[in-house]
Amino acid sequence: MCAHEQRFPADAGEVRQWLQGAGHIAVLTGAGVSAESGVPTFRGAQTGYWAQFRPEDMATEEGFRAHPRRVWDWYQHRRDLLAGVQPNAAHVALAQFQQQQPGRLTLITQNVDGLHQRAGSTGVLCLHGDIFAERWLDTPRNCCHIDHAVADHPPYCDRCGNMVRPGVVWFGEALPYATLEAAQKAVRACDLMLVVGTAGAVYPAAGLARLAREAGARVAIINPAASALDDVAHALLCGTAASVLPALLAPP
Ligand code: OAD
Repeated sequence: MCAHEQRFPADAGEVRQWLQGAGHIAVLTGAGVSAESGVPTFRGAQTGYWAQFRPEDMATEEGFRAHPRRVWDWYQHRRDLLAGVQPNAAHVALAQFQQQQPGRLTLITQNVDGLHQRAGSTGVLCLHGDIFAERWLDTPRNCCHIDHAVADHPPYCDRCGNMVRPGVVWFGEALPYATLEAAQKAVRACDLMLVVGTAGAVYPAAGLARLAREAGARVAIINPAASALDDVAHALLCGTAASVLPALLAPP
């Protein structure tokens, strides 16, 4: 048993029983769910992105305006990396559960990597956007048509200079309203919430686990390490997403 797991011991069998008895299940995933696909997390001590870069440089509008080429290139590097990886057993287990039991599981993710969708999940609520999407940095004028952006890094409008930016949510920006609202609705209505592979450090996403608990749901965390949400959990399953989720979500 991991040290942090001792605080809220519950074995996977018990969580599986909760799952089988739950009418509706909400799942919140973070970067850890993609770690076993070979995608770096953000707060990993050695290999996490935020061990190499300052989030204010790479994940804020100010950082992009200050060094647009550097920031664009970093997102392009991440897109290239994602093009070479595959969904792992955790993504697949979630997608299969959704396919086998339609309407029973709402998948909410902080990830922008598209791996849940590539595994076959549908209706994924992407709180932090999509790294493959592009949009204008400033409110587009009539001259700005995304398809006509002049290729560069970043692409730009050759009439007004507006730059294209990645379609992700940066620090200090609002989450997509309808997506957050749908996530909150699912969380308030769920009987069980699984929180998988997130440090629980970024709000409002992390607040969804607290909302679930306040609304009366059981909360189970799947993570090989302690997270900032451990106090919210009824159960801590210490393990990686790809090792825990397939057995947890397998048909009875
Ligand atoms: P973090 O990098 O902060 O946390 C990753 C979590 O995954 C940690 O708690 C790890 O212990 C856990 N983990 C690592 N490997 C795992 C594995 N194989 N299976 C399960 N868990 C594992 O990533 P997030 O919590 O997702 O936002 O970060 C939230 C947001 O902060 C991101 O969406 C991003 C970042 O800055 C923006 O860029 C706006």
